[in-house]
Amino acid sequence: ALPRDLEGVRVVVSAGGTREPLDPVRYLGNRSSGKQGYALARTAAQRGARVTLVSAHTVGLPAPAGVDLVHAGTAEELRDAMHAASPNAGVVVMAAAVADFRPSTRAEYKIKKTDSDPDPVSLTRNPDILAELVAVRAPGQVIVGFAAETGDSNADVLEHARAKLKRKGCDLLVVNAVGEGRAFETEDNAGWLLSADGGERPIELGSKAHMASDIWDAVAQLIQQ
Ligand code: C5P
Repeated sequence: ALPRDLEGVRVVVSAGGTREPLDPVRYLGNRSSGKQGYALARTAAQRGARVTLVSAHTVGLPAPAGVDLVHAGTAEELRDAMHAASPNAGVVVMAAAVADFRPSTRAEYKIKKTDSDPDPVSLTRNPDILAELVAVRAPGQVIVGFAAETGDSNADVLEHARAKLKRKGCDLLVVNAVGEGRAFETEDNAGWLLSADGGERPIELGSKAHMASDIWDAVAQLIQQ
């Protein structure tokens, strides 16, 4: 049986990949399946939390039992949903793959090959939602970020990740080493869990539910402090 160590804790989890529209039929998207975020939401609910799951696009995942599901298509919609849900949460987890850029304009009609502009896509930076949530965090709120890093070595990956944790200001950073049957479009994940106090531990290769348990163990420890 799972521990009930999140009993009554309000948790907000974002999941999936945003889609940034170009015109009525096209978007900029990414390969996030949503599985890790959904596993986090499901596990938190099983451990007693009151969970809001803010979901961008997924591979058609069903809503986990006992979770409030809110849909968000674009980064800006996801941002609004996170700011609405987070103020009275004890824990906020940004597992969504948020597009860093969106098309600067959304064409009202489908862009045609014959349109005179040879390069019709110009991009605008999306807000960094995680950094914003850290900036307005409630006292005692625990904030968890994700990082999908590539590098020549584990030391490389961890160095980037440590810098990201500092820059973003969150309490925990889940680091996925991308590639080789891990992270995107797979059932399994592996990586490290970095904490703001300098802690660092590996998460062994396993199911996304297994990774979710490790993450909630670390969060529960922080809450109890
Ligand atoms: O900087 P990078 O995109 O690698 O950071 C990943 C973390 O930041 C994830 O937790 C992701 O959900 C979050 N993020 C965000 N807003 C963005 C981009 C990423 O909240 N525009």
